[in-house]
Amino acid sequence: MTILIHFIIILFSLLCFTFTSAHIIPKFPSSVVSPDLQQTSVSVPNGLYRTKFFTQILDHFNYNPQSYQTFQQRYLINDTYWGGAKKKAPIFVYTGNEGDIEWFTLNTGFMFEKAPYFNALLVFIEHRYYGKSIPFGGNDEVANRNSSTLGYMSSTQALADYATLIIDLKKNLSAIDSPVVVFGGSYGGMLAAWFRLKYPHVAIGALASSAPILQFLDLVSPYTFTNIVTQDYKSESENCYKVIKESWKEIEDTANAPGGIEQLHKSFKICKNNTITADALKGWLQTALMYTAMTDYPTPTNFLTPLPAYPVKKMCEAIDSISTAGNESLTKMYAVANIFYNYTGTVTCFDFGNDSDDSIDQGGWNWQSCTEMIMPLGGNNEESIFPAHKWELEDTLSYCKHEYHIVPRPHWITTEFGGQDIGRVLKRFGSNIIFFNGLRDPWSGGGVLKNISKSLIAIVATEGAHHVDLRFSTKGDPKWLKNVRKQEVKIIESWISQYYQDLLLQG
Ligand SMILES: *[C@@H]1O[C@H](CO)[C@@H](O)[C@H](O)[C@H]1NC(C)=O
Ligand SMILES: *[C@@H]1O[C@H](CO)[C@@H](O)[C@H](O)[C@H]1NC(C)=O
Ligand SMILES: *[C@@H]1O[C@H](CO)[C@@H](O)[C@H](O)[C@H]1NC(C)=O
Ligand SMILES: *[C@@H]1O[C@H](CO)[C@@H](O)[C@H](O)[C@H]1NC(C)=O
Ligand SMILES: *[C@@H]1O[C@H](CO)[C@@H](O)[C@H](O)[C@H]1NC(C)=O
Ligand SMILES: *[C@@H]1O[C@H](CO)[C@@H](O)[C@H](O)[C@H]1NC(C)=O
Ligand SMILES: *[C@@H]1O[C@H](CO)[C@@H](O)[C@H](O)[C@H]1NC(C)=O
Ligand SMILES: *[C@@H]1O[C@H](CO)[C@@H](O)[C@H](O)[C@H]1NC(C)=O
Repeated sequence: MTILIHFIIILFSLLCFTFTSAHIIPKFPSSVVSPDLQQTSVSVPNGLYRTKFFTQILDHFNYNPQSYQTFQQRYLINDTYWGGAKKKAPIFVYTGNEGDIEWFTLNTGFMFEKAPYFNALLVFIEHRYYGKSIPFGGNDEVANRNSSTLGYMSSTQALADYATLIIDLKKNLSAIDSPVVVFGGSYGGMLAAWFRLKYPHVAIGALASSAPILQFLDLVSPYTFTNIVTQDYKSESENCYKVIKESWKEIEDTANAPGGIEQLHKSFKICKNNTITADALKGWLQTALMYTAMTDYPTPTNFLTPLPAYPVKKMCEAIDSISTAGNESLTKMYAVANIFYNYTGTVTCFDFGNDSDDSIDQGGWNWQSCTEMIMPLGGNNEESIFPAHKWELEDTLSYCKHEYHIVPRPHWITTEFGGQDIGRVLKRFGSNIIFFNGLRDPWSGGGVLKNISKSLIAIVATEGAHHVDLRFSTKGDPKWLKNVRKQEVKIIESWISQYYQDLLLQG
């Protein structure tokens, strides 16, 4: 119980800075969970992997003496199923995301489940500045102090870390000829796809699951993300959409009426020691709605928080089942919150933590999203289930200048990795990437949804959510999900057999 409450505080506080305008900037689900919590919120099954550390170079792209500083990069390894170097058996590498690698490992059952079939070695590499892979002597405080130390955190450095580590590991294992396939979900999926494009001599292919590599300026509308969230609820029931959409004004009106804040406290069972505002409450509800859409999985899960199967449907059923005679939108929205924040039924009152400015997340993703990961999203048009809000690049820029005293580079990612006319460009250049997307997932708006060539394949699941294919399989998995995984296995198998053929031909 304490863990869950703690979790809610963190989930909430990370998004706090946006509450002043009652407007939420979506993050990848994993960015929302603090590393501490990731460790306590999952029970780490003993013996899934061994933990190792690799001495990594601080700056791969500069030869000044300071660049040669090193740090310890964590990676996890499982060789139980590996066919070995002599057999040139494959190596499956997870390109770590913005968080503790153990958490991603435990949410990437696909690799464990398929390893026996492929006789694959499993390696999960932690992204620099996250988990235990902290530069500057592992000192979190120093590493995150200001732009002088945070400056070494970027996707290009992370990719270079992965390449360096993989090459060294293969050398150590005398497994130079073992083919490497990279895997990743969400930001990790973006890294997997980019890794294949930048380091084709290191990885023969990539499974990039729910990887919004097109979620950048001039490639996607800033309104797409919430349009998809809106559609998720609307497609369950028109009433559900309407109730939620109209609730924001009711919350506002209630808050402004005499005794209104007390009323909100009561209606939403918020802990008495909390001071709340209408904006804080709206932000808290929007967070629940958004992350539920993202993780609208077909089976019960415990990804960000315990949730039932198809939680969007559950929320809408809760709304629809309450009589519509009076102004009961508060009751209905409480029911929605109760599914996301209290599915286990163990929360006695909802604790918002506190609203102080200190609660702004200074963590890694905040830095990344202020430097190169400038993702246009979070704008709400008139149709949006959330209050209308115009997205302005300028808001992000001024926030980031204020926060880090740096000027963001919103065009750097597309300069470095491309994105513009991706089909036309990659058709003549790239190969061996699977782009999986579930259309329930608001991040799919920035995903690759069309086949580009015979080996740049888009697998699109209408009913899928955020990297659902990479999760551990369960008995309740629907047929479409089983088929997606089967197709992925077949494609990866074809890359590997083609690789062995090429190797033979080479003699
Ligand atoms: C590798 O993972 C499997 C589960 O798929 C587990 O049973 C085994 O103990 C793990 N091996 C190591 C060396 O951690
Ligand atoms: C970051 O902090 C260090 C130590 O306090 C300081 O020497 C350095 O000038 C700071 N850098 C910036 C860009 O503020
Ligand atoms: C490879 O072996 C060397 C020497 O033991 C070690 O320092 C290095 O960390 C190893 N590389 C990896 C990726 O574990
Ligand atoms: C508020 O009260 C709850 C229990 O009623 C407690 O868990 C929480 O820590 C308190 N929060 C603050 C900010 O004091
Ligand atoms: C619902 O609330 C509105 C204003 O907030 C009020 O005008 C209306 O009478 C209320 N309706 C009922 C059935 O309470
Ligand atoms: C959480 O769920 C339990 C069981 O349904 C309920 O008794 C409790 O009031 C709920 N907590 C809150 C804060 O609503
Ligand atoms: C809010 O949190 C900050 C930092 O954790 C703390 O210093 C402050 O006293 C808290 N304020 C309230 C009203 O609880
Ligand atoms: C891409 O091609 C594969 C077959 O190679 C097919 O199964 C899949 O449905 C296609 N994807 C799209 C989005 O059309």
